[in-house]
Amino acid sequence: MRVRRALLFMPGDSRPKIEKGAALGVDSIIMDLEDGVALNNKPAARASIAAALREVEFGSTERLVRINPVGGEFYADDLMATVAARPDGYVLPKVESAQQIEIVSEWLFQAEAEYGFPQGSIALLPIVESARGIVNLREIAGADPRVAALIFGAEDFAGDVGAIRTSEGKEVLYARSAVVTHAKAFNVQAVDTVYLKLDDTPGLIAETRFCLELGFTGKLAIHPRQVAPMQAVFTPTPDEVAAARRLIEAHEAHQAAGTGAFALDGKMVDMPIIRAAQSVLARAEAATRS
Ligand code: COA
Ligand code: MG
Repeated sequence: MRVRRALLFMPGDSRPKIEKGAALGVDSIIMDLEDGVALNNKPAARASIAAALREVEFGSTERLVRINPVGGEFYADDLMATVAARPDGYVLPKVESAQQIEIVSEWLFQAEAEYGFPQGSIALLPIVESARGIVNLREIAGADPRVAALIFGAEDFAGDVGAIRTSEGKEVLYARSAVVTHAKAFNVQAVDTVYLKLDDTPGLIAETRFCLELGFTGKLAIHPRQVAPMQAVFTPTPDEVAAARRLIEAHEAHQAAGTGAFALDGKMVDMPIIRAAQSVLARAEAATRS
């Protein structure tokens, strides 16, 4: 599975920002056609994204396009104008049902056949950002094998339920946790919402750390400055890797001697602790592959 620790948004009509994003070493970029683009500039943004996909050198960065809401007036034109330039995937905003994902997936099968792309190769990353979306997470997460990650959108969600945003985010904790739980139940990645303050690296790190603790595998970014600190939070430190290895070695020695649970440094160790250590090693391994 591709590692997606930071996913950097930029307006699709800004070629300079697309080029800047392509050179940052960020895991994924999301060229936006939805809320980051003015209504009268959607056609120009579609053309700009298609040209960038063909012309810009993105290295190992994943190239995603956020289209407008499926079922609305813009999304079909968004897909038609960009698919031939072969993005790695589409980010779908305001998803509330499996049907919205199925519509795009079916359409992509035909486009993939037409352009000779491998069937099913274009990924889908739905953003769940409404009360109805949260209530329907189960059908959304399991809608289609193209779904690679569930993304949580806190600002739209808070607006939809009439919540008032706080810096601790207690008003979105239920929805955030629901997104992670459903993502994990369906074996896809979980990506957290944007951090709006552009000049607050300590706050960004604290919130990213909180998301890591909840089980998220990545977070949306909106400024180049946010990328490195975010990717660092989702990458285990050498000390964390060494501690995880030590736990697993001790566990293997105890298993060989016929013991399950044991004590290490004054703490009980059994299978859930070992699984957590294995997950640290898996994250470290994925980060070195990126
Ligand atoms: N992606 C790529 N490059 C970006 C960027 C982004 N998201 N945000 C800023 N940059 C670039 C700027 O173009 C500028 O480049 P330069 O130094 O070569 O001129 C540099 O980074 C510094 O930018 P800065 O002046 O600090 O920010 P700004 O005032 O130009 O832009 C925002 C502020 C919020 C408009 C901008 O960060 C942005 O467009 N963010 C993404 C918005 C978006 O996509 N929203 C929809 C999803 S929530
Ligand atoms: Mg939104």
